[in-house]
Amino acid sequence: MLTSQGKNQATLILIKPDGLKKSLTGNILTRLSETKLEIVGAKMVRVQRELAEEHYKHLKDKPFFEELIKYIQGELHGRRKVMALVYWGEDAIAKCRALAGATNPEEAEPTSIRGAYGRITTKGLYENVIHVSSTPEEAEREIKLWFKPDEIIVDLYPKKKIIIKEKEESIWA
Ligand code: PPS
Repeated sequence: MLTSQGKNQATLILIKPDGLKKSLTGNILTRLSETKLEIVGAKMVRVQRELAEEHYKHLKDKPFFEELIKYIQGELHGRRKVMALVYWGEDAIAKCRALAGATNPEEAEPTSIRGAYGRITTKGLYENVIHVSSTPEEAEREIKLWFKPDEIIVDLYPKKKIIIKEKEESIWA
């Protein structure tokens, strides 16, 4: 029987605004390097509301949705940015999720990233420092949402070329 074990996978990792505010980027990347996975995409993102809502659309009806949107947009931490990364390699999702720990920081293994650095706010919101895709399907949806094909250095998913005319973009002066 074919299992997902042993297969190359991609996963989206977001270092959330609390992780950036607490200067945890270096620690988190060091922990993730234990996986020996490859980083195939990385950038800082100023998260627009539309992106935040699309990313968390399956949680639209949860009581914490509005706070979750503010959180990922950096409104709770005065840091309007997240670091978005794509890790790629054998069993990438399971490896990254093991290091991240449980979604609820109180339930996460104390030595995991969320166990060590996460907290639950008085409003009941999980400030859990990083996001990691939980399935290959979720990873594909999320990576396509956060990255353009040319921002990733391996061919993860089918892509096509289009010609865009009269598109305004900034270039170095
Ligand atoms: S589900 O429905 O629980 O399976 O959803 P899941 O895909 O695990 O994502 C839940 C995301 O919402 C964030 N969040 C909370 N979840 C549950 N309860 C509370 N109170 C809560 N507060 C925030 C949680 O951190 C998940 O986001 P990510 O970015 O994946 O950590």
